[in-house]
Amino acid sequence: MSTARRADREMSPADAPPRANSVLDLVGNTPLVDVTAMGEGLSPKVKLYAKLEGFNPGGSVKDRAALWMMRHGVETGELGEGKTVLDSTSGNTGIALAMIGAAMGYPVTLVLPDNVSQERKRIIQAFGAGIIYSSGLEGSDGAILKCREIVESDPDRYFKPDQYFNANNPQAHFDSTGPEIWTATGGLVSHLVAGIGTSGTIMGTGRYLKTMNPGVQVVAAEPEDALHGLEGLKHMESSIVPGIYHENELDRKIPIPTEDAYDWCYKMGEKLGIVVGQSAGAALHASLEVAGDVDDGVIVMIFPDFGDRYLSTNLWHGWLEWAKHRQERSG
Ligand SMILES: Cc1ncc(COP(=O)(O)O)c(C=O)c1O
Repeated sequence: MSTARRADREMSPADAPPRANSVLDLVGNTPLVDVTAMGEGLSPKVKLYAKLEGFNPGGSVKDRAALWMMRHGVETGELGEGKTVLDSTSGNTGIALAMIGAAMGYPVTLVLPDNVSQERKRIIQAFGAGIIYSSGLEGSDGAILKCREIVESDPDRYFKPDQYFNANNPQAHFDSTGPEIWTATGGLVSHLVAGIGTSGTIMGTGRYLKTMNPGVQVVAAEPEDALHGLEGLKHMESSIVPGIYHENELDRKIPIPTEDAYDWCYKMGEKLGIVVGQSAGAALHASLEVAGDVDDGVIVMIFPDFGDRYLSTNLWHGWLEWAKHRQERSG
């Protein structure tokens, strides 16, 4: 190759991708992508952006909360040599804790409902973490109760990050997700839309954005009823309410039917080339409802993970049905 051609390809250090010492340094700084094309008949002054949290090294938004909780544990001495990290999780937090435990050098054991996706179980095991199963029929609440029992039987052995009650969960989003959104939109964000699981994402991000501009509207996407297929999200009225959840900090809650969230996932795959998990479909559904009510605004929604995490679940089975119907429609 000539010297001139090699020089053409040189990159300034500022443009080069980061060189990290550890995966821990790669958590956060996820991109916002324009998804306005998913709306129909919206005011031309409305923009929709999705924050693609699947770009975190553990594949989801939960890397942030897990990192903050574990670091805080080390700082306070609650997490140290000889301790095992133990928590209950709907899946993504487990993956994040397993990854961060491996990178920091702490053993991790997770309690999770036995009906979570195969992909999740296997990824957790790939990070060297152990799994204890609770009944899938009892959902995430069953895992919480079983985890409590185990910790109470030998409290000195375990460090329990306790994402539902740990202030470092929303703090992670106050310190990282919120400032990233503010900066990426040049301070123009008008609405934040996110699903509620532990509620850490919406609480921390919403709190930060409201400190920057009290007019920012914080909107939660919540499963429509207790029996739903939106893995990762909670129907608050029928659940153990997380200690970090403060409903008075929300401006609005939008109930989401499972099928609608799934349909948005299928449509986004085809239309945008973005294949996401069902809680992202729920966030888009809620965002479109918000977008239909305003004349102008910059609506930022959180897409917690990508769809490849759900290939063995009902989301994917629905996908096959969807593809079949589409083929029939197009003759
Ligand atoms: C796929 C998915 N979406 C959304 C959420 C909700 O995030 P948060 O717990 O911060 O409310 C979670 C949480 O586990 C999740 O796994």
